[in-house]
This record gives sequence, C-alpha cells and structure tokens, in this order.
Amino acid sequence: MKVVRTIAEARAAVEAYRERTIRGGGRPSIGFVPTMGYLHEGHLSLMKAARRDTEFVVLSVFVNPLQFGPSEDYERYPRDEARDLRMAEEAGVDLAFLPDVREMYPEPPKTRVIVSELSEPLCGRSRPGHFEGVATVVSKLFHIIQPDRAYFGLKDAQQVAVVERMVADLNIPVQIVACPTVREPDGLALSSRNVYLSPEERKQATVLYRALSRLDEWLAQGLTAPQELKRKLEEEIRTAPLADIDYVEVLEYPSLSPVKTPSVVDAGRIIAAVAVRFGKTRLIDNRILDFRTGEAATCSGR
Ligand code: PAJ
Repeated sequence: MKVVRTIAEARAAVEAYRERTIRGGGRPSIGFVPTMGYLHEGHLSLMKAARRDTEFVVLSVFVNPLQFGPSEDYERYPRDEARDLRMAEEAGVDLAFLPDVREMYPEPPKTRVIVSELSEPLCGRSRPGHFEGVATVVSKLFHIIQPDRAYFGLKDAQQVAVVERMVADLNIPVQIVACPTVREPDGLALSSRNVYLSPEERKQATVLYRALSRLDEWLAQGLTAPQELKRKLEEEIRTAPLADIDYVEVLEYPSLSPVKTPSVVDAGRIIAAVAVRFGKTRLIDNRILDFRTGEAATCSGR
C-alpha cells in the first residue's frame, strides 16, 4: 500500500495505475472510500466492497474542518493514523491519501458546493453548513482521485442522498455505491464517535436501534401514518433516561421531503431517521423502508 500526503502525489499514483493498466491492454477501475479516519468495521465494509468491485482501491483519511460547526468536536475528533494505516493495509487498499488541512485548503475556499433542499432537514437543521462542507470536500476529493466508483455508508443516509444528487447535478463521472450500516452485536451502529460514550451512555445508546427495529411491529399493527410512527419512535427513545432527542423524522427517501400520503406504505420509499444526544455525544441512526416491493424491505440496518 502506498501512503501519500499531497494532492500531486495522489494524482501521480492514480495516473501511474491508469497508464500501467492501459498499456497492459486493460481497463482501469478505481474504487474510492472517503473517510475521516479512526477506522472501524463500518469503514472496513466499504473498503471490502471497493476491493471486491474494483482493481485499484483508494482510501482517504481527512478530518474536514469545513463540515464541523464552531461548537462541534473538530478539535477532539478521534485520530489514530498508525492504526488506520494498518487496517487499510489489511483490507487491501492500494493507495492511502492523508492530506493535512493546509494541503486541502491552502486558503479558505471561496467556492462551495451547496445541494439545496436535501441539505436542509435532519442533520442539516441541527448542523448548519455541515452538508455544504461535506459536498465541497467530496467534490474536491472526486476531482483529485477521479474514481469510477465511490463507496458511502447508509449509516449517513442523508449524506448519500446529498452526494448522489451532487454527482447527478454536476455530471461528475462516478458511480455512488451505498452500503448497509454495520452494527455492534447489540445493534448500535458503529461510529468513530462511540468512543466518547460513558459505559452507562453506551448501554442506553442501543435504544436507537431498538426503536427503529420496532417499526415493523407498528406497521404490522396498522400504524402507518407518518406522525404516528414518529410519535412511537420518540416514545420508545424516551424510555432511555439519558437520551436527549435532537430529531426524530419520518420522510420520503431520497427526496427527504415530508411524506405526502396519509400512510407511509403509499409513499414508495421512506426513511425513519433519528439523532439523539447522550451527554456530549450526538448519535444518528436510520432505517430506509421500501414499500414498492410490496414488503417493508430494509435497505440499511442489516
Ligand atoms: P466518516 O464518518 O469517517 O465515514 C466515512 C464513511 O464510512 C461514510 O460513507 C460513512 O457513512 C461510512 N460509515 C460510517 N459508519 C458506518 C457504519 N456503521 N456502517 C457503514 N458505513 C459506515 O462520512 C464521513 O466520514 C465524511 O463526511 C466524509 C464523507 C469522509 C467527508 O468528509
């Protein structure tokens, strides 16, 4: 695995692979997994999917200041470069790109990518500017690496919707691959931020998955009005005394607009999304339910 820290070196490594492949009569196939590091099994599942689908796998590790609000955890975001590199190497990554802030932003960028509407509800409401920071850095990374496929986790389903729309609107020639949420055995979605949780908070954090899992039961009982499902989710989450709800929403997916039909079953595809604080730590989780197939199939959470 080659490790590079500058944009020029990353471009040169990708270009060398491209030339080598074309000279050998092959067709280059580049898979890209953008991350902020402190890698876990969730990130690993993306690297494995890229390894399976593509020939040259690129991982980026960059804690992007542009997507953190002034009172958020940018400074204390967990970092462990040595461990990240070991995991990437084991996962079969070919190129690891670890730029620093000066490399990515030699000056504060005057150009920003704004994906309107999709960036506004859910995490966009509690984290103003967050998705502008995400779309801007992902766009920069796509221009640097120029991958054929890029892998994102449905744990951050709004991020997937934002990136897919950006790629479509700007004709960026990359295929976005959305991968299911990887969970702890007790259901908690893996997240770099889970390390912040105290033992008691960690225990109670399982309420997110428990609440989302009960959706099937409520739907089977005929509770299909979006507001009703939202109320049931809130009620379940409140059974954990340390849970401080940021939002609980039931929206259409991927438009993230309010469900327009009286019953979610007629909405096609919906997302139930939650963000809950435990102490200082804000956790998110979601389930996407697809009713077009005639059953409440989950895209994520498995
Ligand atoms: P980060 O939080 O490090 O996540 C990198 C990728 O891993 C994202 O696509 C995220 O959805 C995915 N991921 C995280 N936890 C997961 C889990 N439990 N199961 C499956 N996938 C999971 O998301 C970001 O970084 C940044 O916003 C980034 C896209 C890198 C832009 O800065």
